[in-house]
Amino acid sequence: MEKFKKIGILTSGGDAPGMNAAIRAVVRTALTMDVEVLGIYRGYSGLIAGDIRPLEIRDVSNIINKGGTMLYSDRCPEFKTPEGMAKAVEQCRNFGIDGIIAIGGDGTFRGATDLTAHGVPCIGIPGTIDNDIASTDNTIGFDTSMNTVIDLVDKLRDTCESHARCNVVEVMGRGAGDIALSAGIASGATAVVIPEFDVDIDYIIQQIEVGKNLGKRNFIVMVSEGVGSDFAPTLARRIEKSTGVETKFARLAHVVRGGNPTLRDRVLASTMGVIAVEQLLKGRSNVVMCERNGIVSPCDIRYALVLDKMYKCKLEAGDLDPFTSDEITQMEREVRRRRENMARLYGISKTINL
Ligand code: ADP
Ligand code: F6P
Repeated sequence: MEKFKKIGILTSGGDAPGMNAAIRAVVRTALTMDVEVLGIYRGYSGLIAGDIRPLEIRDVSNIINKGGTMLYSDRCPEFKTPEGMAKAVEQCRNFGIDGIIAIGGDGTFRGATDLTAHGVPCIGIPGTIDNDIASTDNTIGFDTSMNTVIDLVDKLRDTCESHARCNVVEVMGRGAGDIALSAGIASGATAVVIPEFDVDIDYIIQQIEVGKNLGKRNFIVMVSEGVGSDFAPTLARRIEKSTGVETKFARLAHVVRGGNPTLRDRVLASTMGVIAVEQLLKGRSNVVMCERNGIVSPCDIRYALVLDKMYKCKLEAGDLDPFTSDEITQMEREVRRRRENMARLYGISKTINL
């Protein structure tokens, strides 16, 4: 195996707090191992355009605590075309890039696996607030986004209490209810509505009425955007009409994607960054860093992407063909475990919501 001399690093898709901590860890680990690092700006768009500059130790100073990504991010449809891929591979050759660490979500990993197939070894690091990557218990940015949500909802609760109001709060998460569920429990929401479980609006209304009769003055209903963009404002109107409790609607949107990363995200990002470089330099590629039961280790990207489709019930014909029956059994076990965890948390959100 040829020794790696120069590696590239990029962030792609939606940004997430903690991406900077991962960039810092990658740069410092590689430089310590006598490998140069090139920062690829604006994700795959910057790779195609050659927006690429060397990163030194001091270039990543004072970023561990910052949200966003110093390398900027982008969504790049051109990268999915054969012409875009050819340009990207050519730029890797021009800049002498021996391998790339790509921080992002499942779209970014699909790009990374294509690039690996075209001769540029890639490793993925999961960076997205949504926590919608089934192969890892936690993605970088998830913890920070939940903490931002509870901080904002605590403030809403103050004013709800003063005015005896309800607030329906919609949070991001794309198709995944992870942010809404945990932040809902942590902020004492009366109800949580997420795409993974059927919603029972009559039950929510009944819970609010029971609470009102018990003297409760503030109500929070946490809704994940994955249930549809009209759902939360419509629910707010319905609650007010049925219960007589004045009900406001708040869409937190991108505000939960910014801000300083929490301790947990900084440590996760730093750990994944270090291990990603170690793995790449050992000759490993086409893997994504995953945290399971507190341990970070590499998982084959193809396995991770199919596991994800299985979890999201989006498997297509032929998806399981490359895998052994043991691997498929393992995937089924992992999907079950994740669904059970989700169901347990959902049960908790319903049990203690009065
Ligand atoms: P995320 O990585 O957060 O899931 P996206 O789905 O927007 O975000 O993907 C980020 C980028 O990854 C896309 O803009 C595109 O350049 C690349 N990408 C996404 N899907 C694919 C794919 N199927 N094949 C190759 N590249 C892809
Ligand atoms: O994937 C992160 C995320 O913030 C999702 O929660 C949300 O659905 C989406 O990105 C928003 O995308 P955009 O930044 O393009 O508005």
